[in-house]
Amino acid sequence: MPLGPARRIESVLEPVIPVVGDLVRRTPGTLSLAQGMVGWGPPPEVAAAMQAALGQPGRALDRYGSTWGEPELLEAARRKLLAINGLDLEGSALLITTGSNMAFQAIAQAICDPGSEVILPLPYYFNHVMAVQLAGGVAVPVAAGPIPDPGRLAAAITPRTRAIVTVSPNNPSGVVMPPERLTAINRLCAERGLFHISDEAYDVFVHGAVPHRSPGCASGSAAHTISLFSLSKAFGMAGWRLGYAAVPELLQPALAKVLDTVQICPPALCQRAGAAALKADPAWIAAQVARLRPGRQQLLAAVAAWQAEGLPVRLWAEPDGAFYGLLVIEGLGLSSDALMERLVLEHRVAAVSGRAFGFEHQDAPSGEARRCCVLRISYGMLAGPELSDALARLAEGLRRLRQRSEQ
Ligand SMILES: Cc1ncc(COP(=O)(O)O)c(C=O)c1O
Repeated sequence: MPLGPARRIESVLEPVIPVVGDLVRRTPGTLSLAQGMVGWGPPPEVAAAMQAALGQPGRALDRYGSTWGEPELLEAARRKLLAINGLDLEGSALLITTGSNMAFQAIAQAICDPGSEVILPLPYYFNHVMAVQLAGGVAVPVAAGPIPDPGRLAAAITPRTRAIVTVSPNNPSGVVMPPERLTAINRLCAERGLFHISDEAYDVFVHGAVPHRSPGCASGSAAHTISLFSLSKAFGMAGWRLGYAAVPELLQPALAKVLDTVQICPPALCQRAGAAALKADPAWIAAQVARLRPGRQQLLAAVAAWQAEGLPVRLWAEPDGAFYGLLVIEGLGLSSDALMERLVLEHRVAAVSGRAFGFEHQDAPSGEARRCCVLRISYGMLAGPELSDALARLAEGLRRLRQRSEQ
């Protein structure tokens, strides 16, 4: 056997973010509608907690800590999950991880045997697919509509299915799934003996009338519900790598094996920061999230103006949550990946190809992906004139590419 990576890695989805990052680096002056981050940093309490931590005598920060996280942060997470999310934690174990992706990865390792299936409503979050594949499982994308239809998810269940994943508010569509729908999916999982993995990285990012409600609120749901949260988005702490999760207690022994191996413990200093952030005034978070809303309005107004001008573009669904929208563009005669590349190299604006979220998967609805390009637009990092400039570059790129495709 020649030296090289394992063959099973070949079938793991390619990560898209490094591809966009490389295009942007090659094209100075690019404005990014690609990044899944917010423009703000942590609340002021975090800097104070860091100074206090570093000034403390002793070596607590230098030693390995508990696999599950430090008691102070676990307690802050528990309070937040009870007070803000209203989770039923009876029968749940809490854990802190180096980012929510780490929690998903550990869960995938803990629940997948070779060939185990995990159902992911389309569009999916690419790292979920990759984690399932890396764990030896099979990611089963299901076209169940922007607000996943439990009937269509149920039809995809087989004897090998282990879990159904939901992401609400959604990356990449921005959809906030109505509480009744998440409850119905949660019940379906309970009835069919499946885990419901509820990724709530964007739980506080709600801009429309539909509220976000954690499916783990339902009484008795803790036995089969895995609720995942992140400090990356709400607290602007993506680089600190902190997430927290509520998981069924029965998974604890398996998770202990995985987490002890892959992270030993989350970084001690970052956990001090996380505890300070979670104790920050909820009004601070609400004020940050409110700052995104003009950006969302700019996106909606831009799409309406493009449509009025005759550009064949539309939003795939109402972008009422997170800080994303999915743009469907007809008639360019390009793949979404090619469009992503041309927009950066020729128009200095970056957005993420819909392929990364499953739009060119063979199960994509009604062959739409073959005729259309799909792009994820993030308004998390840009605001005001810069966002207008980025949207104007995008529109100009689409006009030019359309003209070329008609020639
Ligand atoms: C749905 C979803 N889950 C998880 C993550 C990753 O979160 P973290 O930075 O906590 O690993 C992201 C990041 O974009 C996301 O969109």
